[in-house]
Amino acid sequence: MERVKNYISERIIPSGAENLFMESKDFEKLLMVYGCAIREVTTKLEVLNEELSVSYNRNPIEFIKTRVKKPYSILKKLESKGYEISLSSIEKNLDDVAGVRVICCFIDDIYDVARWLAKQDDIRLIEVKDYIRHPKENGYRSLHMIVEIPVFFSEEKKPVRVEVQIRTIAMDFWASLEHQLRYKKNIENTEDISRDLKECAETIAQTDLKMQEIRERIGVFTELT
Ligand code: GTP
Ligand code: MG
Repeated sequence: MERVKNYISERIIPSGAENLFMESKDFEKLLMVYGCAIREVTTKLEVLNEELSVSYNRNPIEFIKTRVKKPYSILKKLESKGYEISLSSIEKNLDDVAGVRVICCFIDDIYDVARWLAKQDDIRLIEVKDYIRHPKENGYRSLHMIVEIPVFFSEEKKPVRVEVQIRTIAMDFWASLEHQLRYKKNIENTEDISRDLKECAETIAQTDLKMQEIRERIGVFTELT
């Protein structure tokens, strides 16, 4: 409870958040549940990478980053989307409280990892957004999946949603810098900057394709099915 209090007390609490605040032990428990779902998904991905490494000397995953959305950001998102501020509303309306970012080496690895994850029989695929085949207007590229995974506790089995973002090292490089820049205040020449950022995204995408082609030329990898 203290921890949740500390998180929130330094910022402005959106109206209606008091109820959530009162239930803060349950809030803390809910965040714990999301943390466990992240561990389940991460373990699956690590198992895949290890198996492929041993069997095929191939490492599709370079690294994995995870995060549970901060209480303040959860409240802010509920409020900005006009959702009720309650624990059940978080579970019902937010897909990205649990986030797993998978950084792959090559574009093909992204689709292999996504396919492999989605076909596991305890995973329910809720949504896929392919921002690689269909990049966002600003140049952003990644494959986004919302999956639901069961987490087993002493008294119950709980299906929990996790947002999985899969991208190459190059796409991650661009997205991280773009994210930082976006939060800089008082940007002048916004249009020029957007154009230049998009140009960087295109250059990076070309490089990803080139690296993919080099890999194919070397041709030592076996496709996952
Ligand atoms: P919300 O979940 O309400 O934010 O909308 P959405 O579900 O339509 O979002 P989307 O699936 O497009 O993106 C979700 C996440 O992807 C964001 O929280 C970011 O982490 C990442 N993302 C999306 N677009 C961008 C972008 O233009 N730049 C960067 N750096 N990250 C992005
Ligand atoms: Mg979303």
